[in-house]
Amino acid sequence: MKSSVLVHGDLLYAATPQKLSLHPDSWMHLKAGKVEGIYAEKPEVDACEIRDYGKQMILPVFADIHIHSVQYGQRGLGMNLELLPWLSNYTFKEEARFEDLEYGKKVFPLLLNELWSLGSLNLCTFSSMHLESSLMLMDMYEEAGFRAYVGKVNMDCCDEPRLKEECDISYADTREWLERSKQYKNVKPIITPRFAPSCTAPLLKHLGQLVQEHDLPVQTHLNENKGEISWVQELFPESKSYYDVYRSYNLNPKGKTVLAHCIHNSEAEWEAMLEDEVFVAHCPASNVNLSSGIMPLREMLDAGFNIGLGSDIGAGDRLFMGTAAVDAIRASKLYSLQSEGKVEPVNYIEAFYLATAGGGSFFGNCGSFAPGSTADYLVVDDKCWPASDRIGLEERLQQFLYLGGAEQISERCMRGEVIEKPFPDIC
Ligand code: GUN
Ligand code: FE
Repeated sequence: MKSSVLVHGDLLYAATPQKLSLHPDSWMHLKAGKVEGIYAEKPEVDACEIRDYGKQMILPVFADIHIHSVQYGQRGLGMNLELLPWLSNYTFKEEARFEDLEYGKKVFPLLLNELWSLGSLNLCTFSSMHLESSLMLMDMYEEAGFRAYVGKVNMDCCDEPRLKEECDISYADTREWLERSKQYKNVKPIITPRFAPSCTAPLLKHLGQLVQEHDLPVQTHLNENKGEISWVQELFPESKSYYDVYRSYNLNPKGKTVLAHCIHNSEAEWEAMLEDEVFVAHCPASNVNLSSGIMPLREMLDAGFNIGLGSDIGAGDRLFMGTAAVDAIRASKLYSLQSEGKVEPVNYIEAFYLATAGGGSFFGNCGSFAPGSTADYLVVDDKCWPASDRIGLEERLQQFLYLGGAEQISERCMRGEVIEKPFPDIC
């Protein structure tokens, strides 16, 4: 591959939550896997590859910053339950299957093919507590060209005996997993205590020490469900709040912690989370499916939180991040109605920002075409929709978010290189 590439098409990205940067019929210069700039006229560049996508839209790839790769098989099941019974009746039973590598060999290729087809190529994902299965998942993401943080889950408290680790084994497996993860280039380990109720204090302490020793990121769940929050108070009576449990064990590395849900936060937690520059993974579909609540997205954006979107498969049901963006808009409209109009809903530009640069910034300069960003893009062919040849680029984006999916995405590129479907079709 030549190191310079010129990409032509109808380019757009969200430069800020308020502003789309629109470049119809323009040229983007990629050099050594990074964006150099976007130009209205074809620039003079020596020895470059030309990729002319005509009138197709070119957007940054999506970031899904909260997805359980091991819950792909259970999507849509148990959606009549709330969090804690859903975990016991469906999720823990499903995750226990990954003890057997053959099960992962069957499920992961289906998941990776779907993520690839939908353009979710920046991922922050939970695996299960199983060491070998987690490494197999990392091999597959690396091989397929994704950029991913993958977490071997830690849990030494669980009502499903097959998922309950001994504290010392959990710690030893995590160290071995960190050592063996060094082989990857675009896939990195992330420390993953499942949530406070699934870990004893000694395990949390070990994990916090690993975070500090190896300068590692962290992902976990926070303030998802009111029953869960009361349970944390019972289990950790010495902690001031749910977030304080993670904080007190150093599981809050600054700017490197992803917290899923964050629906029912106290004021003190809010302040501590802002101070720690956490990334909030907003999972609107999951929050409705498990009747968890509506995250105060508008207020959290206004307060300056780093926010991205999560499909939260399998409590969420759809992998397409356009759908997650639309779900975020819908949830915020209901929140606005409940507030009798005092709180504004979010709009499609904000939601698109969250699905691309908002979550993407957890991985570095990702999810944008600003100069210096990593050259990751999707090509969208929307000529199947009757209005596409008469509406503007910002309206074509709206239709793609609301109506789109794999059928419209004609090409995917990471670090300047086109990436192909990871596995042959199985079914
Ligand atoms: N809290 C602890 N584990 C989980 C999980 O797997 N999914 C969700 N949505 N919340 C959790
Ligand atoms: Fe989750």
